[in-house]
Amino acid sequence: MDHKKILIISAMAEEMLPLTKYLSYEKLLSPGDIVEHGNFVFAVSWIGKVSAAMMLTKVLEQYAIDAIINIGLAGSLSPQYEFGDVVVVTHTVEHDGFIEWDSEAQTRLYPLFDLITVEHPELKKGILVTGDQFVASGTTRESLQAKGGQLVDMEWAALAKVAHHYQKPLIALKVISDNADEEAGENFANNLHAGERVTKHFPFILEFLINQ
Ligand code: ADE
Repeated sequence: MDHKKILIISAMAEEMLPLTKYLSYEKLLSPGDIVEHGNFVFAVSWIGKVSAAMMLTKVLEQYAIDAIINIGLAGSLSPQYEFGDVVVVTHTVEHDGFIEWDSEAQTRLYPLFDLITVEHPELKKGILVTGDQFVASGTTRESLQAKGGQLVDMEWAALAKVAHHYQKPLIALKVISDNADEEAGENFANNLHAGERVTKHFPFILEFLINQ
């Protein structure tokens, strides 16, 4: 691999654990941790938009990062996904705030979305809505679907905003943990370690990012 520095950021340590292990880093990280490991920096922000924005800002001010990968769980708002599916975010909506669609950083990923369709069809794509709430009700789920959302998290739009400010390429690999419905809490807890499947797609994603 060349000498590009790649930041891997997640809200919770458990979300990142399969990937850090895959990259031969054995220790369990904690919220607030920033660890340099070869060409990678691992950062655990904790949950929500403010935590995510603070952590990403801090890392980008301290390290010469070339590209950012966000690994995390997401609730499904669409019947096309099953628990454990890995989804690459194509568009973003902040459901309780404001973010512009299609920032320049996201536009740079368009070739990747085409590649996925052709070469990695098992890697899914989707429009992600972000907000500061864990969605666990049919009514909220429907209102997010009405905004065009196909999956939901609590950090990505904030990361996208900060990355846009710093003009850094970024990509989100989201693993479906629940259906953002009344059983979401239980399913989320059961699928906390579902990030395993990200490792399968990681080499391809990394190659795309470092060759940009
Ligand atoms: N991340 C994973 N599941 C979620 C949900 N149901 N709501 C918000 N963020 C999530």
